Amino acid sequence: MPHPAELLFPRRKERFEDRRREDASRKLLDEFFDHPTLLTVSRLVTQGQFEAIDYPISTGKEGGVFRATAGDGFRAVKIYRVGNAVFRRIPLHALEELRREASEGNFRRLIYGWTRREHTILRRLRAAGVRVPEPYGYLRNVLVMEFIGAGGLAAPLLQEAVVADPDAFYDELVLELKRMTVEARLVHGDLSPYNVLLLEDRPILIDVAQAVEATHPAARGLLERDVTNFARYFRRLGVEVTSEELFEAIGGPSVGPQEA
Ligand SMILES: Nc1ncnc2c1ncn2[C@@H]1O[C@H](COP(=O)(O)OP(=O)(O)OP(=O)(O)O)[C@@H](O)[C@H]1O
Ligand SMILES: [Mg+2]
Repeated sequence: MPHPAELLFPRRKERFEDRRREDASRKLLDEFFDHPTLLTVSRLVTQGQFEAIDYPISTGKEGGVFRATAGDGFRAVKIYRVGNAVFRRIPLHALEELRREASEGNFRRLIYGWTRREHTILRRLRAAGVRVPEPYGYLRNVLVMEFIGAGGLAAPLLQEAVVADPDAFYDELVLELKRMTVEARLVHGDLSPYNVLLLEDRPILIDVAQAVEATHPAARGLLERDVTNFARYFRRLGVEVTSEELFEAIGGPSVGPQEA
């Protein structure tokens, strides 16, 4: 709908269109940076986590990832929306763990718990030697982590990248997933070419908040789903692999409730 003033001043139409575009992008930013989130960001700046947020690398329904500048380089800052968020992602097993936050019926607290969970899981994965971004700090709905990229540009998603040597890449990914199941005893639970970054032809796993303990009753089913998706992806690249083979290769049989 044209603004009434546009009809009165037709020659200024372009200016009004610029304004509308500006409004749209301001709205997008407003959705991330509500007042409490701005305060959180400024607290993190005071803590010395980073100096400034540069621009969004990716914005989605539930959150956004921004590049930030720190004294010694860049950071990736993941901000979960709290305002009118459509948060369908928290799976049951994670809700069990965030029981206290969830039962308070306070959505904001639940998102804070989810952010903390992503930080904790990244730490566990790093400790086990899995290639994931190093987590630095977190506060409320904001997570600060290692910026994965080169020359200030974020690394591409596997989904958007061309894999030079699919067989070698398969071996690399198997190694990471095996470390994840066998050493970290976690199952990713949302594994796809959309949650793997490609840096110098090697994989880096991201988006781990929904990961589940390998001994959880739901873990086996989640791993089978992850593996089926990825085996299909590799077959499209010409790597001959069945879901069963991939499952075996990454230590899948060790996943599931511990027998008494
Ligand atoms: N540490 C990082 N360094 C560089 N880029 C990153 C980093 N973490 C995430 N990204 C970029 O941000 C995007 C979204 O990150 P992530 O998958 O963790 O969030 P998400 O909750 O799945 O968001 P979406 O719903 O938009 O996919 C990624 O696809 C990737 O392009
Ligand atoms: Mg993702």
